[in-house]
Amino acid sequence: MGKSGKKTKESHRHGRGRGASHFRGGDDCDDLPSSAYDAPPPHREDSDDDDTDVAAAEDEQEDVDGGDLDQRQVGSMPSKFHLYQLSVQSPKGDISYLQKFFLMYVGGRVPLHLQEDFCGTALLSTEWLHSDARRTAIGLDLDLESLEWCLENNLSKIGADGYSRMLLFHGNVLQPNEACIVKQNISDLVQDMHINNDNSSLASNICDQSDPTNLKCSANSTMSSVTLPARDIICAFNYSCCCLHRRKDLVLYFRHAFNALSKRGGIFVMDVYGGTSSERKLRLQRRFPSFTYFWEQEEFDIISRQTRISLHFQAGKKQMLRHAFTYHWRLWSIPEIKDCLEEAGFKSIHTWIREMPNTQSSGNAKEYNADRDVKYEELQHFSQGDAWNAYVVGVANV
Ligand SMILES: C[S@@+](CC[C@H](N)C(=O)[O-])C[C@H]1O[C@@H](n2cnc3c(N)ncnc32)[C@H](O)[C@@H]1O
Repeated sequence: MGKSGKKTKESHRHGRGRGASHFRGGDDCDDLPSSAYDAPPPHREDSDDDDTDVAAAEDEQEDVDGGDLDQRQVGSMPSKFHLYQLSVQSPKGDISYLQKFFLMYVGGRVPLHLQEDFCGTALLSTEWLHSDARRTAIGLDLDLESLEWCLENNLSKIGADGYSRMLLFHGNVLQPNEACIVKQNISDLVQDMHINNDNSSLASNICDQSDPTNLKCSANSTMSSVTLPARDIICAFNYSCCCLHRRKDLVLYFRHAFNALSKRGGIFVMDVYGGTSSERKLRLQRRFPSFTYFWEQEEFDIISRQTRISLHFQAGKKQMLRHAFTYHWRLWSIPEIKDCLEEAGFKSIHTWIREMPNTQSSGNAKEYNADRDVKYEELQHFSQGDAWNAYVVGVANV
């Protein structure tokens, strides 16, 4: 599978992989994070089931006459969300860095309360809940379909109390208070509330436990009408801030994030990419055992700094899921982001950066292995190159 895929002009194997699967306490980040641009290779431990699913779907596709299929036509092709998560996300790595940043810049306590803005299928939030029963997560996104997919496919795997420790909100990051809680399966919620009566339950914050019928009303709540724990960490990953095109919107969004962070100190973390390769037409691909992932970047407009990115997947010999995801992005520069964070009230801002493999090279095993060892470093200066990825960390209230 995938071997018969037409090779693109610039075939590029990103070398960032998932390392050890256990969180190591923030001293070092063995798990590297994810991004759409820098797709990690699949990791057996995380994706055994997933590979099986994709392979099964691929087998079913073998007899089907292919060609480029619109996503409504693909029938048994795996869900685009499923392929996306396998291709571009590695939440353990992101969480390692989040924890490391919190301990470095805030410290004094363990971060427990996460908000994932632009959360999509909230895989990161789901992983966050996994590792510590005291943790809570809030996800916010405009796309109801991805939020509902999360409840059914991610949160459902996390165990009995997952539903009570995560709340998903459907709405705009520019108006978070108006975002509505995505209805969970009410019977799951009632059951979980009996199991989880401690204060790590977000559901108990919005529901009267003595009156389960109250849940129905609460499920229509907005973010402003419920009591939520002050967030220790807020993140916006996979270049999501590039969805905001106007400077005043970026500042407004950062202000909302700042206000939701704990007065005892908290961090906002976003990622951004750049380099000369990010400012031109570019097509990258990465092969997975049972499908191929494509990143397609249209011409870059240097006046508006905008581009359009499409993600495509090929599964099976001829099945192409084109434009599974399309993003219209303004590629913010790091100094622009820093200025906006400062304007929004953040006290200090830190840039962690990592050079990426050259997009012009064809990629081979050697390059791949060497690249696995490259980690993010906090830097004040970094010379322009072909491709880089960065975390920008805003520290509040310390
Ligand atoms: C590039 S995806 C990132 C998804 C996820 N954070 C990840 O790491 O893969 C961008 C997400 O932002 C959402 N989005 C775009 N503009 C938004 C807005 N103004 N408010 C809330 N969500 C938004 C989209 O629906 C999409 O799910």
